[in-house]
Amino acid sequence: MQRILLLECGPFGRQSRGSGLAQELVERLRQRHPQAQVLERDLASEPLPALAAAYAEALVAQAPGDDPALQVSERLIGELEDSDCLVIATPMHNFTVPAALKLWIDYVLRIGRSFAATEAGKVGLLADRPTFVVVSSGGFYRGEQARQPDFLTSYLRHVLSTIGIHDLEFIHLQGLVRGQAHAEAMLAQARAQLDANPHLAAPGVLP
Ligand SMILES: Cc1cc2nc3c(=O)[nH]c(=O)nc-3n(C[C@H](O)[C@H](O)[C@H](O)COP(=O)(O)O)c2cc1C
Repeated sequence: MQRILLLECGPFGRQSRGSGLAQELVERLRQRHPQAQVLERDLASEPLPALAAAYAEALVAQAPGDDPALQVSERLIGELEDSDCLVIATPMHNFTVPAALKLWIDYVLRIGRSFAATEAGKVGLLADRPTFVVVSSGGFYRGEQARQPDFLTSYLRHVLSTIGIHDLEFIHLQGLVRGQAHAEAMLAQARAQLDANPHLAAPGVLP
């Protein structure tokens, strides 16, 4: 593992429990791969520009990558191409991904660049890589306590697989409005889940 791309998508920065867990996760990856570099992109505190007509036209026309309208898209896809591990820390906002992450998706999923349209459907053109998605939410959308739909998990899974990323692990920190003790219990559960991930296990424990 040479380069880890960390996407921060929530408004709370380092105060976010999800972001804190993602940082821990990156630290664990770096213990296993001390040479790995980390590129962090904070989509919430440094928002991407809103989609312009020129971008939409260039995308539909499948303009060449050096078209100025594709500059942001090229940079973001380039960051993915330069990395071999992806970590996303995202809150759930209104049952799905926050707007900041949706904008990243709209720049990164590009026909003829990050995916090809074939007779059989869309096929990813980027390399697969271990990918972790830490999702934090105020309420519950999985398990017995679920009281709301989840349009985030299957959506993000589909988005990432469209560009070729299939090696995915979701870590769900649910019910974070329930106070510190509950959040700690969720974090403990999440850490146990990470312990079992082959990309994170201590060397010699798992292949
Ligand atoms: C605009 C907005 C929409 C939200 N929508 C949901 C939601 O649909 N479901 C939910 O469980 N929590 C929702 N929340 C709560 C956030 O998911 C929660 O504040 C955040 O994820 C806390 O996690 P953190 O400590 O990692 O930042 C929403 C919060 C905001 C600001």
